[in-house]
Formats: sequence, C-alpha cells, structure tokens
Amino acid sequence: MRTPTPRERVIDLRSDTVTRPTPGMRRAMAEAEVGDDVYGEDPTVRALEEEVAGRFGREAAVLTPSGIMATQVLLRALTRPGDEVVCESDAHVVAYEAGAAAINAQVQFRTVDGDRGRLDADRVRAALRPAAFPYTTLGAISAEETTNRGGGAVHGLDRLRALRALADERGVPFHGDGARLWNALIASGEDPADVGASFTAFSVCLSKGLGAPVGSLAIGDAEVIEVARAWRRRFGGAMRQAGVLAAAGRYALEHHVDRLADDHANARSIADMIAEAWPEALDPTTVATNIVYVDTGAVDAAQVIATLAEQGVAVGAMGDHLLRLVTHLDVDAQACRDAANLLVAAMAPPA
Ligand SMILES: Cc1ncc(COP(=O)(O)O)c(C=O)c1O
Repeated sequence: MRTPTPRERVIDLRSDTVTRPTPGMRRAMAEAEVGDDVYGEDPTVRALEEEVAGRFGREAAVLTPSGIMATQVLLRALTRPGDEVVCESDAHVVAYEAGAAAINAQVQFRTVDGDRGRLDADRVRAALRPAAFPYTTLGAISAEETTNRGGGAVHGLDRLRALRALADERGVPFHGDGARLWNALIASGEDPADVGASFTAFSVCLSKGLGAPVGSLAIGDAEVIEVARAWRRRFGGAMRQAGVLAAAGRYALEHHVDRLADDHANARSIADMIAEAWPEALDPTTVATNIVYVDTGAVDAAQVIATLAEQGVAVGAMGDHLLRLVTHLDVDAQACRDAANLLVAAMAPPA
C-alpha cells in the first residue's frame, strides 16, 4: 500500500468531533429560516427541539451550544447545591469538564467503577450512602451512553432501566449524558422512545457522530426543560439566530443517523486488523460502536502517534501506552483500512 502524504490527506481518527459540514448541510444552513431565539422566534430551532423531543417520546428539549452545557443545565435543573451525584469513575462529566459541575450545579461526585464505563445498578446500590446518611444528600445518578472512556460501550435498555429503578427507589433523578446516544441506538436497535423514557432527563449531541458543527439538546419533561432553559440563559448559552445551527442539526438527523452503522463497521474492521497483528492490543469483540482503544504494549503511544502523523494519520493518546481511534462521517472504509495498516506497522517494537 502506498503511504498517503500529509499533503494528500489526513485521516483524522482522533475524535468524531472533527467532522466538517457536508455541502448539503452547508446549503441547509444557508437557507435556514431564522429569528431571535431568545424571543422564542427562531422557527428552525423550535422545529429541531420539537423533533428531537418527539423522537424520544419526551415533552420538551432545549438547544445548547455544547454537550457540556446540556449536561450542566440539566444537572443544575435536577439537583440542589451540595448534592452528591453518582457517576462512573471515568465519566466525561467528572473527567473532562474542568470541574464544571462543582461550579455550575455545585454538586460533588461519588464515583463508582463500572465495566468499560458502564454502571451496574447492583454496584451502584452497594456504593450508595444509606438514605439516612447525615447531611450528605444523594442528588442524582448519572450514566453515559455510549461511554467515551469506556470505548464506546453501550449500557442498553436493561441496564438503564435497572439504574432508573434504583434512582426511583431513592427518589432521585436519573440523568443521561447521551453525547453518543445515537450510536447506542443504532448498535442496539432499541426504540428511542424506550431509551428516552429510561432517563429522567438526558442530553444528545449533534456535533459528534452526526457531523453537525455545533449543537446539543437537553431533553425531558416540559417542567425540567423550562428550568434548564433558564439555566442556559444564566450560563450565557441562549443564542439569537441559532436556526443556522439548528438547520445543520436537522439535516444531520435526516441524513446521518442511519449511516452510523458504517462508522461502527469501520471501527470493528480497524479493531480486527489490529488484533490480528497484535492480539494483546485489544479485544475486537468489545468494539460495539465507533470507538477503538489500542494498547501499544512496549511501544510509547507518543511514538506511534508521531510515526502516524508523518504518514497523514491522526489518532489520540489516552495514556502513555493507550491510543484512541474514533470513526466518523469524514473517514470512509478505505481510509480506515489504510490507517489500521499503518498503525499495525507503527506498533512494531524497535528491533
Ligand atoms: C460522553 C461525552 N459527553 C459530553 C461531551 C461534551 O461535548 P462538547 O464537547 O460538545 O461539550 C463529550 C465530548 O466529546 C463526550 O464524549
């Protein structure tokens, strides 16, 4: 195989957030009908919010500029300052949000180890403080679907329902970080309305697997979303003619959801190719969606990244010996195979 030079192309597998709007999406953005959304007058934003809430069988949704803001407004709406929120040890909300929940919702986290980022209701139950624990109050249970640090693993409806039942038992909300919930739905084939009903309130992103440039939504009952909307305003996330962004999201929903299956197949083929050459590097059967973690063994991840960079392939470092590859709209099957071949070669320990 001829090695692509960086000038010819970059196969960027660092994240599914690196996609650029397609020509069709750009047209939809250019033609979007807009108004001032703070006045509630942007028809495209309204249509997006209604469509997304409707897809999940829920009453309401609010558009936010980012996934982090969607999570933040929901945690603020669902909990009280000083509450304790239970989440998985490596969850995005505790690992990557710069302490946002401590500042915005003013909650503390109690983390529970999961398997590949997934929470298990029995383990969470065992970790919960007793209901009558002095002063520290459980505020919410939060789960990520799919799991980012967990390699794109899917909780699935049974686990989510068990977590919801536990939250109900304790009288607290069950929050979902659904940045890649679309991937979970495509992988599991589960009904979005069933999954949507399993959470008290949850977010989805349009700017990850779906390829929109900006945008996430917080989803739930009308009452909770009204409170979340007010927090969005306080956090500075209320936007004006946001219909140009919502149009990208609507386009993505129409054209880019079903094709997530291609991303999943590409991730699996990358995993299979690597495992064939380096069986210790990963177990390809654990690759359920679009994220592949690779243990580089004796070789430094930074060395592999540098070698690949020279060959026009970008992958992410998640540890000294751990790489992350994420498939998406802007990398086709051939590009993924090329990247996997180059990675296999780059992982060879020095002679
Ligand atoms: C699981 C998860 N939640 C939330 C986010 C935050 O999204 P954003 O970058 O849009 O704030 C990400 C980002 O990749 C994520 O992977």
